[in-house]
Amino acid sequence: MRTQTRSLLDQCSPERRAEIERRVETLLSELTLEQKVGQLNQLNADFATGTAVGDMDVERGVFDGDIGSVLNFGDLDEARRLQELAVEESDHGVPLLLAFDVIHGHRTIFPVPLGEAASWNPEMAELSARVAATEAAASGIHWTFAPSVDVGRDPRWGRVMEAAGEDPYLSSEISKARVRGFQGDDLSADDTVLACAKHYVGYGASEAGREYNTVDISETNLREVHLPPFEASLEAGVGSVMNAFNLYERIPASGNEKLVNDLLRDELGFENLVVSDWNSFGELRNHGVASDLREVARACIEAGSDVDMVSGAYATELVGLVEDDVVDESLVDSAVRRLLTVKGVLGLFDDPYRYFDADRQSRRTLTDDHREAARAVARESQVLLKNEDDLLPLDGDENVALVGGLADSDTDMLGAWRAEGDPDDVTTLRTTLADRVENVTYAAGCDRDGTVSDTQLADAVDTVADADVAVVAVGERYSQSGEAASRAHLDLPGDQRALLEALVETGTPVAAVLFSGRPLTIDWEAEHVPAILEAWFPGVEAGPAIADVLLGEHNPSGRLPMTFPLTEGQIPVYYNRLKTGRPAEDADVDLTEPPSDHGEKYLSRYLDIPNDPLYAFGHGESYTDFAYTDLSLDASTITTDETLSVEVTVENTGDRAGTEVVQLYLRDAVGSRSRPVRELARFENVDLDAGESATVTFELAAADFEFWTADEAYAAEPGAFEVQVGHASDDIRAVERFELVE
Ligand code: NOJ
Repeated sequence: MRTQTRSLLDQCSPERRAEIERRVETLLSELTLEQKVGQLNQLNADFATGTAVGDMDVERGVFDGDIGSVLNFGDLDEARRLQELAVEESDHGVPLLLAFDVIHGHRTIFPVPLGEAASWNPEMAELSARVAATEAAASGIHWTFAPSVDVGRDPRWGRVMEAAGEDPYLSSEISKARVRGFQGDDLSADDTVLACAKHYVGYGASEAGREYNTVDISETNLREVHLPPFEASLEAGVGSVMNAFNLYERIPASGNEKLVNDLLRDELGFENLVVSDWNSFGELRNHGVASDLREVARACIEAGSDVDMVSGAYATELVGLVEDDVVDESLVDSAVRRLLTVKGVLGLFDDPYRYFDADRQSRRTLTDDHREAARAVARESQVLLKNEDDLLPLDGDENVALVGGLADSDTDMLGAWRAEGDPDDVTTLRTTLADRVENVTYAAGCDRDGTVSDTQLADAVDTVADADVAVVAVGERYSQSGEAASRAHLDLPGDQRALLEALVETGTPVAAVLFSGRPLTIDWEAEHVPAILEAWFPGVEAGPAIADVLLGEHNPSGRLPMTFPLTEGQIPVYYNRLKTGRPAEDADVDLTEPPSDHGEKYLSRYLDIPNDPLYAFGHGESYTDFAYTDLSLDASTITTDETLSVEVTVENTGDRAGTEVVQLYLRDAVGSRSRPVRELARFENVDLDAGESATVTFELAAADFEFWTADEAYAAEPGAFEVQVGHASDDIRAVERFELVE
């Protein structure tokens, strides 16, 4: 099997595994059909993270034994009360599983996941998930609905903020690290939580970037682009997977047997829990593939989906479906077995109250170490998009004007999906600069929503005109990305561009700090503002982490995990695109000018804009420079059983220490299906002192050359390949070729 899936039971010792299996089977044989169906029913306790569905009396349901898991509960006391109802008051006494969306930190909020992925450093992703798990598990949470592993290539879609960007390989590496961070190596420990790879699968391909919109992708696209981060999560041992809202082959993912039973379970070997998304079962009716809840319940249980998040379809219909011999009871048993196994692995049969310890919660929440970790991740997540004439870093003794509502906004720094994050915990850029820079004057210039009043504008212009340098915070509010936050226009909201224009006009050099949960269209800014630092939504340590970069205490090493389009009309635009029949890039044509004749016209291009994006995948500047030399392969021909060793020397040619993210791309010249122009296959962060060099070695094997071939199978096809190594997907510094033979 290509994917080395690790089940939850595989991760237990043989003795523990046997004990869990025994308890699960005993329970299964004791539960009535109604009670088993109740286990598959998940309800919402507190604030809702979706549209209201039915009437949810959670306490009554738990007391009656009709609920197996609960999401979005309030505090520890509520968690304990619910658990007591389940264990001590319900007839069956089976403990509840408590779930919450812990996406980028629980109380100590880290950068949003897209920002974290910009670190290109899986250790950072693992660290943030580790801290999040420690705090969540001390707050009564057993199960987080994270990581989101959706590959996103359309920045209009607000949920690109929640995952790791446009590339299957980078997303896979980051997703694996997140799963390891959440689950650790012992799920019964008191500082780990069950992870959930979501949304299975293809959600990132929502048409036109519109949230909850339809998806229509080929099987090849599914397997090559959207599936790999799920496979990586299964290899990391993820204990649950969430159904996506979207269609695949015109069948909603939750009720799609081909996706769940055939692909996820049979082909990829996933033995653990599949949970629906919020009412995604119920939405089968809206998609027009079921006329009532009975048809919904039948389709979903037959597809292999186990837990019903809030739709009530299983709760109201499964018993009848079994009694009428429409659905085989063994399907219900299998789903319940998977859920009970999770409860067993989490240690809930040993002690259902193990996660409710107020003392532990206060000791483990928002500690200095956690804040330090959040700052480290936030430093590494920033991407220096441009830095003309080395405007940054600042010396710190300049007269600095700080402008922008976002520089003073605590709540925006937390991003969307902030779990228990509290704006009061945030150190803003304004607070930090006031502490660390002697001469700094703040003028709001605009509100946090980007609106600029005449007084604000005049005040900001005066402040900037009097300063040596201006730091201007611009971007989105936190609620403009995340779930249900698609945008058609990706430029700076409100009047922020006009504000920047006026500030640039003063002649004082401007460094913009950009806050966003997605790539924005900032072509004007890229042309006129000398320095731009993408800070995403950095979390509780926003101010200190950004100041570390602005003041040169941290040399930025973040790289874009997603392409920044020049304008919305290019979307979707991503680096690993397929070749076209009329490639404009290979023709000797200036694509920034309109075509002048037939030869220039009949190419894959626009009449009015170039094809190239503003900033490509992998792009990111540093305060130093790196040179690449001596790229070599240890063979010019290899068989599919052999490995290929790639070496390259990287030198820090500047005068300060820095980190280069060495990126290795593969180009498969000819395949039975058209192959992308290049694909990321490896990367490594290399720390180099000024003047230092290092040799980086990458090992490649057949699995790296495999793809979904025209034979409908994964295989590495013989032929010519290029190894491209460099600083970014559009800044390849060295190329070597080799031949793959049978
Ligand atoms: C809907 C979202 O799509 C999903 O990601 C989340 O986990 C659930 N709501 C629960 O809040």
